[in-house]
Amino acid sequence: MFLPMRAVDLIERKRDGGELSPEEIRWLISQYVAGQVPDYQMAAFLMAVYFQGMTEAETVALTQAMLESGDWIDLSEIPGTKVDKHSTGGVGDTVTLILVPLMGAAGLVMAKLSGRALGHTGGTIDKFESIPGVRTELSLPEVIRQAKEIGVVIADHTAELVPADRLLYGLRDVTGTVPSLPLIAGSILSKKLAGGADAIVLDVKCGDGAFMRTQEDAQALGETLVRVGNQLGKRFSALITAMDQPLGYMAGNALEVRQAIQVLQGEGPHDLREVTLALGAELLLLAGEEPDAGKAEEKLVRLLDSGAAWEVFRALVRAQGGEVGAIEDPSRLPQTREVVEIPALAPGYVQRLEARKVGLAAGLLGAGREVKGQGVDPAAGVELLAKVGDQVEQGQPLARLHVGRAERLPEAKRLIETAYTIGETPPQPGPLILGRVR
Ligand code: URA
Repeated sequence: MFLPMRAVDLIERKRDGGELSPEEIRWLISQYVAGQVPDYQMAAFLMAVYFQGMTEAETVALTQAMLESGDWIDLSEIPGTKVDKHSTGGVGDTVTLILVPLMGAAGLVMAKLSGRALGHTGGTIDKFESIPGVRTELSLPEVIRQAKEIGVVIADHTAELVPADRLLYGLRDVTGTVPSLPLIAGSILSKKLAGGADAIVLDVKCGDGAFMRTQEDAQALGETLVRVGNQLGKRFSALITAMDQPLGYMAGNALEVRQAIQVLQGEGPHDLREVTLALGAELLLLAGEEPDAGKAEEKLVRLLDSGAAWEVFRALVRAQGGEVGAIEDPSRLPQTREVVEIPALAPGYVQRLEARKVGLAAGLLGAGREVKGQGVDPAAGVELLAKVGDQVEQGQPLARLHVGRAERLPEAKRLIETAYTIGETPPQPGPLILGRVR
């Protein structure tokens, strides 16, 4: 059908607070992906959306248009419920590496498409690839074949899925238009819908180390994501989880793999385990596998503590070409030659530990990228020895820096020194799970 549309008219209408029709949104996105609408017009449109927002109908149309810009994974011929999860990004957030095998052990299919480190936050693909031999660049037929064979996959987002997000995200990143609720919703939901799952849980991180700094903003994002996602025909729910201090004790790729292994072996830090179990329980509820969250968590605890999830993780690593010996004996995972300790400058209680600074320091040390396309050092990162509530003596090491990029050590040191606030009184611990949207 011939639609006499011009990008400038749509930009002006949005700028002035008007509403666009689904056809107009579909036209704009498809023309942009085809190279017919230039970056400068799309940038102006994104800024108009940033200031004016979008109605729910527009957000649904945007998500749909982004989804239709590329391929999607069809898992329908695999029996059983297919589940998926997305985190809005945090520090020490190794949940995916634990949750995927845990869902596999529970009999569900989870083909997880993940990303790489972004800003101060880590990325599952960089973490998983720190296991020697692991291959994450799977083609769509490979993803489907592996999901059929062993029920679990962790693969890099391919270029064929949601090309609109790849283009729009790059533009948003450099035009100050990332923190817009409808744009975030379109970006996350289009990718989740393209992943082919029936039931999806969203982990909306909230706090210093997250995109959404306040509970109000995180709740609003969770509600929009669940409402729009459900309108698009999938079962969604969201947890709002605390990200003021990092999850667990590690920020860095191989370091986080070690910690995931501990949890998969029934041990590991309680906060990482708690968030993983809560998200997993939510998926069992959404999938109709268990009637209530308590029963679902009990089942998942058994699967962790019995070693069943660990067995699935070994199968997952083997299927993707990884050396199983390196996860059985984590001393064989990459390690930096230089490790530097950061001592406490005063005695007292750790009252605050700023996740954002820990994430930035880990990135500088080599766990992240400073320029697009740069390689990461799988061994680099920050190992925390004290977290909020711990009592420390003066001179006691608070953290170990695993140094991949020696030239960045002074800056990373400063970040970790200032990430800790030590005071005389013990702080009141806050809850980890701040809210639920079903
Ligand atoms: N994560 C995404 O995938 N997209 C966004 O826009 C923000 C967070």
